[in-house]
Amino acid sequence: LPSRHAALRGCFITFRGNPFIMPPEDALHVEEDGLILIKDGMITHCGPYTQVRPLVPDNCTITHYPDSIITAGFIDTHVHYPQMPVTASWGEELLAWLKHYVFPAEARFEDKALAHAVARGFMTELLRNGTTTAAVYCTVHPQSVDAFFEESSRIGTRMIAGKVLMDRNAPDTVRDTVQQGYADSVALIDRWHKNGRQLYAVTPRFAITSTPEQLEMAGALFKSRDDLFMQTHLAETQQECADVATLFPNRSSYLDVYDKAGLVGPRALFGHGIYLNEHDLQHCHAADCTLCHCPTSNLFLGSGIFRLFDVTSKARPVRTGLGTDVGAGTSLSLLATMAEAYKVSLLAGGTKLHAIQAFWLATAGGAQALHLADKIGTIAPGLEADLCVLNPNATPLLKQRVKTSKTMADILFALMMLGDDRCIQATWVHGACVHEI
Ligand code: GUN
Ligand code: ZN
Repeated sequence: LPSRHAALRGCFITFRGNPFIMPPEDALHVEEDGLILIKDGMITHCGPYTQVRPLVPDNCTITHYPDSIITAGFIDTHVHYPQMPVTASWGEELLAWLKHYVFPAEARFEDKALAHAVARGFMTELLRNGTTTAAVYCTVHPQSVDAFFEESSRIGTRMIAGKVLMDRNAPDTVRDTVQQGYADSVALIDRWHKNGRQLYAVTPRFAITSTPEQLEMAGALFKSRDDLFMQTHLAETQQECADVATLFPNRSSYLDVYDKAGLVGPRALFGHGIYLNEHDLQHCHAADCTLCHCPTSNLFLGSGIFRLFDVTSKARPVRTGLGTDVGAGTSLSLLATMAEAYKVSLLAGGTKLHAIQAFWLATAGGAQALHLADKIGTIAPGLEADLCVLNPNATPLLKQRVKTSKTMADILFALMMLGDDRCIQATWVHGACVHEI
C-alpha cells in the first residue's frame, strides 16, 4: 500500500500553552509561512516552510493556502445531532422545550433510515463549520447510534457519541428501562468504542429523566471499560435544579446526585453547569471532570450566565470546553459560539474573554476537556491531522475589518465575532480534505 502523504502550506496558528494561566500572546504560536507535512493521517512535521520543504517526498503535492489561517479543527464538546431539525423552535424554557419540541423529534429516530439521513446532514454541517471532533448525543434508540457512527466512520472523523438513557418523565416513545438501556449500551460499546477513531460515551440524559437505579447502572457501565466517556446535563436552569432537589431529597447537591451514582470523574462531560456553587466547583476540580459551556443555548433558552472565569480560576481550574448544544444552541459554528461566549463573559462581569482564549477553548482546550490532547487540538508532530483553514476575507465586512487589524489576536477576534461558515475555506480530517469552498 502506498503511504498517504499530504502537505499544507500557509500561515498556521497553534498553542504552546494555556492562555487562561499565561499571557494569551505567549500561549499562541503563529507560523507566518508554515508547512504541515502529513503521513497516513498524522502530522509528521510542521514549522517554517523553508525548514520543512526539503522533507516533502517527490510524489507529494503541496496544497497552498495563501491569505488564510490554518488551525487545528474545531472541537464541539456538547451537541445533539437528532435535534438539528428542531433548532430555533419558539417560545419555551428548557423543560417545556424538551416536552413540546425535542421528545417528539427524537421519537422519529426509531426509524434507522431517518436517523441515517439526519446523521449524514449533521456530519456535512459539522465539516462545513470546521468542526472535526464532537461529543454527540444520539437518541434512546440504539439504531440512532449505529447511524451516527457509520457516518463518522465513513468520513474518518474522531467522534464521541452514545445512546441516551432515559427511563422516566418522558413519553414511552423515547423511554427505555434499566435493563434494556444496559443491554443496548453494552452492545454499542462492543461495536463502536475504539473502533477506528470512534469513542463511546455512556449518556444518561439528566437526573430528571433517569431513575436512581438507571443512574447507578450508568455509573457501573462508565467504569466497566477503560477510556469510556460519560455525558449528561447538569444545573442548566433554576427550575431543573429545583426539580432535581425534589426528586433526590437525600442528595446534598445536583452534582452529588451524579457523584453518588459513580458518574463524576475523568472523561465525565457535564453540559452547562451554570448553577454550581464554590463547593461544587472544588468537587469538579478534585474529581477532574469537565464542564461544557454552551453560550448560544443558554441565551436561546434564557437558562442563565455561565461564569467561565470562575470555573477556570487558577486556584482550582475545572476542565472546560465549548459546546454548540444544537438544537437548544442556535448554530453549529464554533466561531458563532466563541462570539456568544465573549458576550456572556461581559454579562458575567469580571474578566472579558480574549480572542486567543476563545480559540484555545475551541481547539487545544477542547481537546484537554475531552482528555484527547495527545491526539487532537494542536498542530504538532504525532497528532492526528484534523485541520481547519480559515479565510479572514470571506465577507465584505470581515475584509474591511481585517484590513485595519495589526495583530493576530485582532484578526482572530474579528473572525470569531463576524465569521461564520463562509470563512471555513477547507476542512481536513485525518489527512484528507473533506470540505472545500
Ligand atoms: N437537558 C436535558 N436534555 C437536554 C437537551 O436535549 N438539551 C438541553 N439543552 N438541555 C437538556
Ligand atoms: Zn444538551
